[in-house]
Amino acid sequence: MNVQQMELTASHPLALPVGVTLDRYIMHRQTAFPYATGELSQLLRDIALAGKIIHREVNRAGLIDLTGGMGVQNVQGESQQKLDMIANIRFSRALKNGGEACAIISEEEEDIIYTGNNHGKYVVAIDPLDGSSNIDVNVSIGTIFSIYRRVTPIGTEPTLDDFLQGGRRQVAAGYILYGSSTIMVYTTGHSVNGFTYDASLGEYILSHPDIHSPANGQIYSYNDGNVEGYEEGVQQFLNGCRKKQFTARYIGSLVADFHRNLLKGGIYLYPPTQKAPDGKLRLLYEAFPLAFLAEKAGCLATSGHQAILDIKPYSLHQRTPLYIGAPLMVENLVGMLG
Ligand code: AHG
Ligand code: MN
Ligand code: MN
Repeated sequence: MNVQQMELTASHPLALPVGVTLDRYIMHRQTAFPYATGELSQLLRDIALAGKIIHREVNRAGLIDLTGGMGVQNVQGESQQKLDMIANIRFSRALKNGGEACAIISEEEEDIIYTGNNHGKYVVAIDPLDGSSNIDVNVSIGTIFSIYRRVTPIGTEPTLDDFLQGGRRQVAAGYILYGSSTIMVYTTGHSVNGFTYDASLGEYILSHPDIHSPANGQIYSYNDGNVEGYEEGVQQFLNGCRKKQFTARYIGSLVADFHRNLLKGGIYLYPPTQKAPDGKLRLLYEAFPLAFLAEKAGCLATSGHQAILDIKPYSLHQRTPLYIGAPLMVENLVGMLG
């Protein structure tokens, strides 16, 4: 039967409603909290909008010379890609124009970015483009964000204290994955929900309501090239995964690896290495937001010594080892660490 021949009844997949858009969902959630004033909702919409723009840039990158390096390094000493820069500009601009954030920190900039909106109640930490090494080869990349309510008085210039509150004080966190489709997954501390972007409508549609990750899994994700430098317990854990014939999957974009494991059940590991004795990943805009979201979805996230969310931050770009995913796998690993 071809489409013309199909009878378009109300129950036919082609005639089903489009679903709940992100905007409508955010609005609906806001009305569930009688004292919510709408600023956080607006901030989430600003982030979603920047995500749409980056979706567009990512999808036409190969056509308009947006791939390749800038020939410079970012504050992390890593070579900056053109899309890293573009994503950084897009997000900063969206948050400045939106007016709800008084300051931003970004992987791509050493210092606090002041938005000029000192009356904004929130600060945002972002990794504008995660998985830079995958940009030029059409492999999934992402954006990670973390939101705090500022602790400095409204109307004054925000300070470091606003960003160094600790992961448990996040009011919202999430990521946008630019993969085989683009999806925004976020939590405001209650449920975790995923919204797939329909580019033809220009809307994110609720596709993954109330995500609960499996308690156990069979996927393990790590960079095997670093394994020599891993401590004994991690190597032992990995040997166990091999013996049990688990599945090894490593994309090299944290967002993509995390998202897969969140849905299917698995563990992502970035232990300390010889090159990076404190780990590679950044606490404020990689580990904290994913750990916040992970815990809300039933996963665990640890540095090996403590829950990621209990780490006391002391600087904007500090790094941490990260073990994140299915709680039984994370507990098993932690039990093997010295
Ligand atoms: P970014 O592109 O934002 O610098 O992050 C890259 C991170 C993370 O996304 C990924 O999981 C990890 O680096 C990969 O590191 P290795 O190449 O060392 O495996
Ligand atoms: Mn990153
Ligand atoms: Mn990045």
